[in-house]
Amino acid sequence: MNGYPAGMTYETDGAAPPEEPARQLFFIRKCEALINKRAQELERPLCYFIQTFGCQMNERDSEKLAGVMGQMGLIPAPSEDKADILLYNTCTVRENADKRLYGRLGVCKAYKQENRDMLIALCGCMMQEEHVIDRIKSSYPYVDIIFGTHNIYRFAELLYSRLTSDSCVKEIWKDASDIVEELPALRKYPFKTGINIMYGCNNFCTYCIVPYVRGRERSREPKDIIREIEKAAADGVVEIMLLGQNVNSYGRGLDTDIGFPELLSMAAEADGIKRVRFMTSHPKDLSDELIKTIAEHENIARHIHLPLQSGSDRILEAMNRHYTRERYIDLAKKIRDAIPDVSITTDIIVGFPGETVRDVEDTLDVIEQVRFDGAFTFEYSPRKGTPAAEMEQLDKAFVQENFDRVLSAVQRISKEQAGRFEGRRMEVLTEGEDEKDPSRYTGRISQNNVVHFPKSGLRVGDFAEVQLDECRGFYYNGTVVAPQT
Ligand code: SAH
Ligand code: SF4
Ligand code: F3S
Repeated sequence: MNGYPAGMTYETDGAAPPEEPARQLFFIRKCEALINKRAQELERPLCYFIQTFGCQMNERDSEKLAGVMGQMGLIPAPSEDKADILLYNTCTVRENADKRLYGRLGVCKAYKQENRDMLIALCGCMMQEEHVIDRIKSSYPYVDIIFGTHNIYRFAELLYSRLTSDSCVKEIWKDASDIVEELPALRKYPFKTGINIMYGCNNFCTYCIVPYVRGRERSREPKDIIREIEKAAADGVVEIMLLGQNVNSYGRGLDTDIGFPELLSMAAEADGIKRVRFMTSHPKDLSDELIKTIAEHENIARHIHLPLQSGSDRILEAMNRHYTRERYIDLAKKIRDAIPDVSITTDIIVGFPGETVRDVEDTLDVIEQVRFDGAFTFEYSPRKGTPAAEMEQLDKAFVQENFDRVLSAVQRISKEQAGRFEGRRMEVLTEGEDEKDPSRYTGRISQNNVVHFPKSGLRVGDFAEVQLDECRGFYYNGTVVAPQT
């Protein structure tokens, strides 16, 4: 079995076929031949390492890139310095993400001196920015392959170009063309995976770079999504996460009446899928119908990540978020009333241009009212080309002070919230060994809280009913009541 989708032929002689995905499958074979030859010369298999930065979208893209490299006969490297092909899938949502990549690229120079065969490839959101490409060219000339978010499916062809030439191969597209699917993917976890339901974003929140680097919003056809879910389930996947920057606007622009609530029901009802998560919900588009759909399906996770960003109407407007603090508070209340035990987590930005102590107090007030089960708090980071980066920026010490206030409020409340399931029996998906104690497992309940428990004959990927004996801050210690649910 060659692992390729049925019904296609793969020629490796003659010219590359023009249509996709046949074209990339052709280049996979071409690369495989070159990689095999080199492996024979070196008397060892060649290996790859992918370092993924950023969100679940990038995690999923990396699974696809790993699938392509696996089909070429490359095996995973034990660490990044041992890789023959080292790929960084980058994120640029905040400045820290950029800094991390530049730090790594500095180290790569030493790796390359040790292993002259090593190829360094860069892809992902950062590569869609011109100033990044300029900096890489001038400061890191030893990078071998550069590609962006829209042509990620062309990796095999780009790698082949590099393997058959001596200079850097760079291909960045400004916009997305068609969505090319059906290339192999290698899942990081055998029991769970992300499923893209849409790409890009149309919301243009004024602080955010994502619409510029990921392009316009495009929804995938429901039948393609469901086919992918069924295939994943047939491979042993029990938990999926439907992915999009704003899943609540799923379906816009498609010739079907299927919106996100319908798609979510279909996913929850797919054979073999025991738990469905989704990410991310924009508060402006979260409908009553969606709340009802979640309430009606026990296997849709009792967890909604609902980014607030700010609790001040003035700042929300300047951010272009299209909701008010009242609407957000009402929505959270509606969700908590309709879905018992639901957990609501959020993202908050502190230090957006023009934010005053009064605005921060409004944010603190929403935090107190909604009582988030978890929150990521970010210091505002100006991103080149976004409207907010052109506004007058705040004093760093002032932002730091506000950030500390917000952080301590969310930490106090989420700690209090975390204890609320103590003593209860909950369904847990076994995710892997407890890093601190290999005689135990780590898993997650539907609300996304982490639980550590004795192995009790379970395997990774199994569901079990676990008694949550004690809450230790942000995780529980539990005991297995019933091995399989
Ligand atoms: N599509 C998702 C979020 C994607 S980015 C949504 O709309 O909710 C993830 C988070 O990064 C955002 O929710 C926001 O809180 C944060 N973020 C985005 N741009 C940022 C910036 N310029 N500075 C600080 N945080 C930012
Ligand atoms: Fe960025 Fe806003 Fe789109 Fe989320 S919805 S990706 S924050 S522009
Ligand atoms: Fe980062 Fe791109 Fe995701 S900028 S957060 S990896 S969409």
